[in-house]
Amino acid sequence: MYERLKPWLFRQDPETIHDRAMGGLAWLARRGPLLGLLQRLLRLDDPRLEVRAFGLRFPNPIGLAAGFDKNALALRAWPALGFGFVEIGSITALPQPGNPKPRLFRLPEAEALINRMGFNNEGAEAVARRLAAWQAHGPLPVPLGINLGKSRATPLEKAAEDYLKSLSLLLPYGDYFVLNVSSPNTPGLRALQEKERLEALLQALTGYLQGRKPLLLKLAPDLTWAELDDILELSERYGLAGLIATNTTVQREGLPLAEEGGLSGRPLARRALEVLRYLHKRLQGRLPIVSVGGIFSPEDVWERLEQGACLVQIYTGFVYQGPLLPRRLCQGLLARLEAEGRGLT
Ligand SMILES: Cc1cc2nc3c(=O)[nH]c(=O)nc-3n(C[C@H](O)[C@H](O)[C@H](O)COP(=O)(O)O)c2cc1C
Repeated sequence: MYERLKPWLFRQDPETIHDRAMGGLAWLARRGPLLGLLQRLLRLDDPRLEVRAFGLRFPNPIGLAAGFDKNALALRAWPALGFGFVEIGSITALPQPGNPKPRLFRLPEAEALINRMGFNNEGAEAVARRLAAWQAHGPLPVPLGINLGKSRATPLEKAAEDYLKSLSLLLPYGDYFVLNVSSPNTPGLRALQEKERLEALLQALTGYLQGRKPLLLKLAPDLTWAELDDILELSERYGLAGLIATNTTVQREGLPLAEEGGLSGRPLARRALEVLRYLHKRLQGRLPIVSVGGIFSPEDVWERLEQGACLVQIYTGFVYQGPLLPRRLCQGLLARLEAEGRGLT
């Protein structure tokens, strides 16, 4: 069905289609009975798919990556589509419109996207109000991650205050939080991955949190091994709950489109896997790793789990493969577990 719709969908502007799809999902997310029906059709609940990580229980290891539902508009639709967890954001302390359009581009032959959205979002206060309103619909059946970015107008020197403002507003609503210092689309943001700056930021955020909620760090795929080593040392020293690897890349992997922004999808898979392997080799299980970047098939999920990830996330695969992807990934994973005669952990 989605394969038939795709040629028509892909003739439209990518951001327009994204906004329309989000509009539809937001509508659906508020229709209890319809959502329940969808959930019965698409959700695959099986205890063998369960994962426990950073003190939380995930019904399956497939998550929606940050950036798809930045403002939590369709929150309850994601578990109904079969996701095992949802990450909203990136959310910034100040509401902001993001970069001028066009800012999202498809590379269909490569099954990739390039985006320079620039953290377009309604801001922490508005999203906190929406999350409070969602609570009236009952608890979400899957863990909710809240990904935090830095407001564009805030200078790097004041980054900690900016993140702290969002964190304090959103703290009651998230099951885990993500410090995003790896988006290529906010000028200077990735400099926050440098040792001194990152240390100051981690000190401020973990000091404020005092272990009340798990804090994870999302990394760029373009860091060197030495830079990753510094980050690993800090992550362990400040007691982070885990790492998310990776964000989009500024490398172009030989692709023809010269648009500025972050590349995601299939061409990112090789580097995301390489970074995962490196992190796992260094950490030896001391910190959980969420792998993201170019995951399209059950085989991709299996490979990431085998190479040290405890959870995975998808974004571009969902755009190219359609809304049945989470179910297909869970089905494929179960078939593999059966063939291997073992569980996930
Ligand atoms: C249009 C778009 C917007 C994104 N926005 C965010 C964001 O706001 N925060 C974030 O941490 N990652 C963001 N990402 C990165 C994704 O969460 C993910 O790390 C990346 O796309 C790699 O996964 P994929 O290959 O499955 O897409 C965005 C990605 C895309 C394509």
